[in-house]
Amino acid sequence: MKDLSKIELHLHLEGAAPPGFVRGLAAEQGADLSGIFDGQGHYAYDGFTDFLRVYEVATSVIRTPQDYARLLREVLGNCAEHGAIYAELFVSPEFCGGGDLSAWRDYLAAMVEVAEEMGAHGIDSRAIITPIRHFGPDRARASAICARETASEDHTGWVSGFGMGGAETVGTPQDFTWSFDCAREAGLGLTCHAGEWGGPQSIRDAMSLGISRVGHGVHAVQDPALMRDLAEQGIVLEVCPGSNIALGIYPDWSAHPIAKLADAGVKVTVSTDDPPFFHTTLSHEYARLADAFGWAEAEFREMNLIAAEAAFCDAATRDRLR
Ligand code: ADE
Ligand code: ZN
Repeated sequence: MKDLSKIELHLHLEGAAPPGFVRGLAAEQGADLSGIFDGQGHYAYDGFTDFLRVYEVATSVIRTPQDYARLLREVLGNCAEHGAIYAELFVSPEFCGGGDLSAWRDYLAAMVEVAEEMGAHGIDSRAIITPIRHFGPDRARASAICARETASEDHTGWVSGFGMGGAETVGTPQDFTWSFDCAREAGLGLTCHAGEWGGPQSIRDAMSLGISRVGHGVHAVQDPALMRDLAEQGIVLEVCPGSNIALGIYPDWSAHPIAKLADAGVKVTVSTDDPPFFHTTLSHEYARLADAFGWAEAEFREMNLIAAEAAFCDAATRDRLR
């Protein structure tokens, strides 16, 4: 599965930071991160709320534009090793520069340089600007402004989407309407985490923001009418099965609903979310899906065509992905 060309639509840049990378930065800064690793040096957390805590502690040592540039180079290199030819990264101005537009410009410039360099080595990428739901609507607005301003200035089009991650049970998507409207008016593609921890109504609420993709969306399987709506509207799910299993939403691969969603006509794609947290890679996801559901190269190729159509990129890049 490693050799098959793959598209990754749902990958958090900070969540893809290998533990060794984070430990290296912590050592340079004299920061004590002992509470976030297990005895083997892997990230250690107990459930989703604790995962978010560990994630934020790990992210706290990724500080400078140069740190983000180094991280992006390592993450895209890891993706390419597993066959990815294109990756969309969730990046949060709330972590890079605290939502301050002038600081964000410095982070973005450092990352765009790396993205261009890695593009020349066979892996294209784009950034989805990502507010954190449990940080609230005011901070999301600052992210939306960063997204709007730099989407128009960034001639490479690296900033191409706007999404929302974080705790799905906090507030409602409608609290973030201004930010999503702002991003849409700037021409950005829209996605939102929903139906990971929330049920069908949470997905419907996110759909009413005008998104073309849903992050996770797996709980749509509980509602045949919703699956019909998703299929009819061509809304694409960014499914991350290994993440769902590691976080305890499903007990194992055979219990995961991705095949049921696909059978119902919903457009599904496969991504890794936060690979080192979940001990996964894109080729691992494909191999486990092949084991659980008998999916083979033809199914994965079809799925990557769906991902190419749904990617937040320009037409020339899309052509290369097909
Ligand atoms: N941020 C990083 N990973 C996430 C996940 N699985 N759900 C919501 N927010 C996230
Ligand atoms: Zn995610």
